[in-house]
Amino acid sequence: MDAADCSWSGWVWLSWVLLAARGVGVTTRSASETSAASVANKVNALMAQMTIDEKLGQLQQQVPQPPGVLETQAKNGMLGAVLDLTGATNINALQHVAVDQSRLHIPLIFGLDTIHGYSTIFPIPLGEASSFDPSIGRTDASVGADESAHNGIKQVFAPMIDVSHDPRWGRVAEGAGEDPFLGSAFAVARVMGSQDNAAGKQDMASADKVIATLKHFVAYGQPEGGRDYNTADMSIQRLWNLYLPPFKAAVDAGVGSVMSAFDALNGVPSTANPYTETQILRTQWGFQGFIDSDYTAVQELIAHGLAADGADAARLALNAGTDMEMVSTNYVTFGKQLLAQRLISQQTIDNAVRRILTIKYEAGLFDHPYVDVSQVAAHTLTAADRAAARSAADRSMVLLKNAGNALPLSSTLPSIAVVGPAANSQQEILGTPGIGAQGQAADAVSVVAGIKAAVPGTTVTYAPGCIDGTGAADQTCASNAGFHAAVTAAQSAAVTVVVVGEPAAMSGEAESRSNIDLIGQEQHLVDAIKATGRPFVVVLMNGRPLTIPALDAESPAILEAWFPGTEGGNAVADILFGKANPGGKLPDTFPQNLGQIPLYYNHDSTGRPPDPNNKYTSKYNDGPFTPLYPFGYGLSYTTFGFSNPVISSTTMRSTGSVTVSVNVQNTGARTGDEVVQLYIHDPVASIVQPVRRLQGFQRVTLTPGQTTTVKFTLNRNSVGFFDNNGKFVVEPGTIEAYVGDSSTAPLVGSFSVV
Ligand code: BGC
Repeated sequence: MDAADCSWSGWVWLSWVLLAARGVGVTTRSASETSAASVANKVNALMAQMTIDEKLGQLQQQVPQPPGVLETQAKNGMLGAVLDLTGATNINALQHVAVDQSRLHIPLIFGLDTIHGYSTIFPIPLGEASSFDPSIGRTDASVGADESAHNGIKQVFAPMIDVSHDPRWGRVAEGAGEDPFLGSAFAVARVMGSQDNAAGKQDMASADKVIATLKHFVAYGQPEGGRDYNTADMSIQRLWNLYLPPFKAAVDAGVGSVMSAFDALNGVPSTANPYTETQILRTQWGFQGFIDSDYTAVQELIAHGLAADGADAARLALNAGTDMEMVSTNYVTFGKQLLAQRLISQQTIDNAVRRILTIKYEAGLFDHPYVDVSQVAAHTLTAADRAAARSAADRSMVLLKNAGNALPLSSTLPSIAVVGPAANSQQEILGTPGIGAQGQAADAVSVVAGIKAAVPGTTVTYAPGCIDGTGAADQTCASNAGFHAAVTAAQSAAVTVVVVGEPAAMSGEAESRSNIDLIGQEQHLVDAIKATGRPFVVVLMNGRPLTIPALDAESPAILEAWFPGTEGGNAVADILFGKANPGGKLPDTFPQNLGQIPLYYNHDSTGRPPDPNNKYTSKYNDGPFTPLYPFGYGLSYTTFGFSNPVISSTTMRSTGSVTVSVNVQNTGARTGDEVVQLYIHDPVASIVQPVRRLQGFQRVTLTPGQTTTVKFTLNRNSVGFFDNNGKFVVEPGTIEAYVGDSSTAPLVGSFSVV
């Protein structure tokens, strides 16, 4: 079989990202020049009629208020957008006030966080990144857009594309992990899923499409100490090489809006940062959409110590490039005063208003401001949506350990015990609450329910293991009160499935942890199950990498399920019983202990690389320097072999390309997926380079014995890097290539850039 026969999604995405991440002539903004001109004419005509108050009103985005407040603002033209109002009827009612009763009839945009689904909840984005299949992110965004738009939400505060190297930070759950290349592929896929119509053309005006919002611009994923909202301080090359690429790729894909981050980057809060907002985003990248502030981020410029008061905060944010103010009200309150004092210009206000009105036109809000209430049910939590969510969850799970082929389980076992506080919960499986939009626990399938449905002939016993004073499952596992019942269940079962991790509510915004072990007493719960001597396997549900060396040492099998969403329990059962073969890979390094953080595969070379036999090298004197599981790692129920790596040429002109190909064979007895990964390293460069960095991946499905050839193309965008002026450079010299099944892939050869 040749490469064309196998799954080619990774290849397409690779090509896309290679082009898009470095801005090589890729743009999908589909509006023809004619329609762009006609939108511009309409916007100009409208703006010519607007008072300064009405203009400032367009810059205000507000949350629901006591009855009448938003209605009055909308009627007076003092409101541009609303977040967190849900329900088609509620949205239509407020929209009618804006459109029917305001002087200029300008519609509102209604926005919501739809990070991994609206009603049908997909796996958390960190889980989906584990699929190494960006089409999963696209499907998630597309289903989310369809459900959101049909429920009246026309702007989603998604995707969250912050690269992060700190698993203490709770929002790693919302992103695609530690790698900018993988993150760029998912960022582009999610924007396309939100904004592109079935024909693949950008079409935010479609009834099933929304305006995507990239967040959080930029470097919000690297707060000091992993504490949410905290300072990010880094070199310019680091910003450009690690944190900006997903934003650049998604801007090139035509995203409609961008949200500024809460935190300060190199001393300047992102909401008032002219370097990132104006110089990079608008001037260098040509971003045409609007920049939304994060929630009260304009007001917070005072607490940051940048602004003296609200007027000063409005001045700084507006002049830096933040067009819309979320929740706080400094633009509408102080805009006129600042204009009179010439502290902001009419041009600055007009530009912001123009960008927002342009997106409102492009999103079709002027033509179709209302939701068709009769269509809501047909576009909410459909069977097809659920099937897509289940498939996404199947593909997102990562098999971390499988000693003695403990998995998959036989589907004819007489009995199974399921243990763990989250195992029978329909809420936990959905993942981080604040980012779950409208997903309802009642619609979700728990692990226990999924197992029962998969093996109807098996007696399934559930014991939470961790219980509170009332006997109910305790997600914090504060005591060992329920251990006895769990051990008893394990003793009489053919096998026990132990579900542990961390509570869903402990990842997401403002959920930084200073300890990322299994929660509470859960490690002791596993110890107690292990002590029975009976067979057991572990399913992890968590929103970040955890420090689990003891769990790894004692458990025969560990399946990382992340928080798999509405269909999560069915998907866990699909994998446990081998209906689906796990093929996910880790998008984040798992450290062995907290003190190792930050620990990530694409770290810079040092003058003294860690050497266990040499004290004076870069490592710890009281513990390991290697991770528990590296980036890109994950097992399968089958095995794969790599052979015959070929680099097409020993030289590559800086304007040319080389290909790297490798044969991969399924050497086991089951059909399964492998993610073939290509990493490169530049051993001599003008600034220190990462020890390796991902530059290609492709997930392939192979039947037993089947071989395929996977081919990657490298060009200037792959081998170049940004310097400390933010300039992209391609330098002559050797490039090493590594190909294999994780970030520890072996060196397969090198070529020279000439
Ligand atoms: C979060 C954003 C979110 C916004 C609106 C903020 O607190 O940082 O990610 O989009 O709230 O819900």
